[in-house]
Formats: sequence, structure tokens, C-alpha cells
Amino acid sequence: MPASQQRWTAVDSFINDKLVGPDPALDGALEAGAAAGLPPIAVSPSQGKLLHLLAEAIQAHTVLEIGTLAGYSTIWLARALGPGGRLITLEANASYAEVARANIARAGLQDIVELRLGAALDTLPKLVAENPDPFDLIFIDADKQSSPDYFTFALELSHPGSLIITDNVIRDGALVDPASDDPAVEGSRRLHAMLQAEQRVSATTIQTVGSKGYDGFTLALVTRPHAHDGAHDGR
Ligand code: SAH
Ligand code: DHB
Ligand code: MG
Repeated sequence: MPASQQRWTAVDSFINDKLVGPDPALDGALEAGAAAGLPPIAVSPSQGKLLHLLAEAIQAHTVLEIGTLAGYSTIWLARALGPGGRLITLEANASYAEVARANIARAGLQDIVELRLGAALDTLPKLVAENPDPFDLIFIDADKQSSPDYFTFALELSHPGSLIITDNVIRDGALVDPASDDPAVEGSRRLHAMLQAEQRVSATTIQTVGSKGYDGFTLALVTRPHAHDGAHDGR
């Protein structure tokens, strides 16, 4: 482990101690995930709190999450929703979903959170077909090679003002390494190419370091309605 990683982890501990703090439901969700053998790839505590603060800042009532794992980011996001809030989270792995459901229930969020089991490229078209109210915040954090496809669905399920957040877009800087043909990295490149050409969002990507290493996330604010809004499309 490079010295810089030890420093990043120590600073994350400092931030957690000062600004995040212990929380039985959140800490328990990570512990239950670890005990069940889930990979330790949930957002870090400070990143989870960032998701929570962003959801609060935009006064989100509805959230769509793609990639549940043990429900750690789910709990952070669901807790930010006002009365009547709803969160739908999509997960492909049935045993992960079982762990997540228990964690979500332990956090008292079972009436706010709906977990849909299945590959997101199957469950997203079904969700679109239900013609739901648009989501205020969408968090894309599943298989990284599909992030651009998930972004296309996210746009369809959004309204002007929605925030679309995509995790793990930097990958140790492999994003700009011409030698990397990792599908996850290609996914992030494709996402950035889409965003460069996309007129309906204003986006930026932030590089991050911390307990999860060197990575980053993309924030896209939907500024114009998608084509299905028809007569109300201001373009
Ligand atoms: N958002 C979680 C971490 C998600 S890790 C957190 O921060 O707490 C990525 C998750 O995406 C894993 O649980 C994995 O099983 C799931 N996943 C992978 N491929 C998927 C797919 N095609 N559809 C839905 N979920 C998928
Ligand atoms: C991986 C997935 C994540 O969502 C993450 O935050 C880190 C790593 C992974 O699949 O390796
Ligand atoms: Mg992630």
C-alpha cells in the first residue's frame, strides 16, 4: 500500500470522527455486509454523507439507485427524503439483496425503500414502462461498463432540476491511461463522451481520494426536459 493511501485513510478517519460519527444502522449495514462476505465497496462514510447532503440540498423526495450492495448508500439517501419520500433501488444479486433488505428494515426505512431484484438493464425498461413520476436524484453505482446505458435511462426518468450522480468514474486515473481497456474504464470514457455531447445536462467530474483509494464521481444536473415531455419541451 503506498504511503499516500495510509494518509488518505487516516484523513477519512479524522473526517468521520469530526463530522460523520457512529450510527448503529449505517455501521450495522457495513458489518452485516462484511459478515455475509459482500465486497467492501460501499461508498465511504464521508461520501455517503455527501450523497445525503446533496439529496437534502435539492429537497429530493424521490431517489432511484442503481446498485444496492448491502444498502449502505441506500440508507444515507433514504434518510434525506422528506415526508412521503420514496427510494427505489435496483440490485442484480439475490443474496446481496437479502442482506440489504435486512439492513434497510433495521434502519426503519422499509416503507420508504423499494428494492427491485434483477439486472438493471431488465428492471430499468420495466420501470420506464410504469411511467413513474420523475426522480429528483439518481445514483448510478452498479456494473461500471453499463454506466452510460444507465445514464440514458436516468435522463428518461428525470426532470429539469434532477441530479444524476455516477460513482467510480476515475479508477486510479485509468480513465486517461491509453493502455487500459478495462470495460469499467471504457464505460467511464463513454459516459464522458455522452455528457460532452448532451445538451440536457450540465456536468462535472470530481476526483476523490480517501479510504477507498483514488477514484471520483460525476455530477450531472438536468437542465432541460427530455424529448418525451413533448409540447412542454422548451428547445
Ligand atoms: N451503492 C452501494 C454499492 C454498490 S456496489 C453502496 O455504495 O453502498 C455495486 C452493486 O451493483 C453490487 O451490489 C452489484 O451486485 C450490483 N450490480 C452489478 N451489476 C448489476 C446489474 N447489472 N444490475 C443491477 N445491479 C448490479
Ligand atoms: C467497485 C464498485 C463500486 O461501486 C465501488 O465504489 C468500488 C469498486 C468494484 O466493482 O470494484
Ligand atoms: Mg461505487
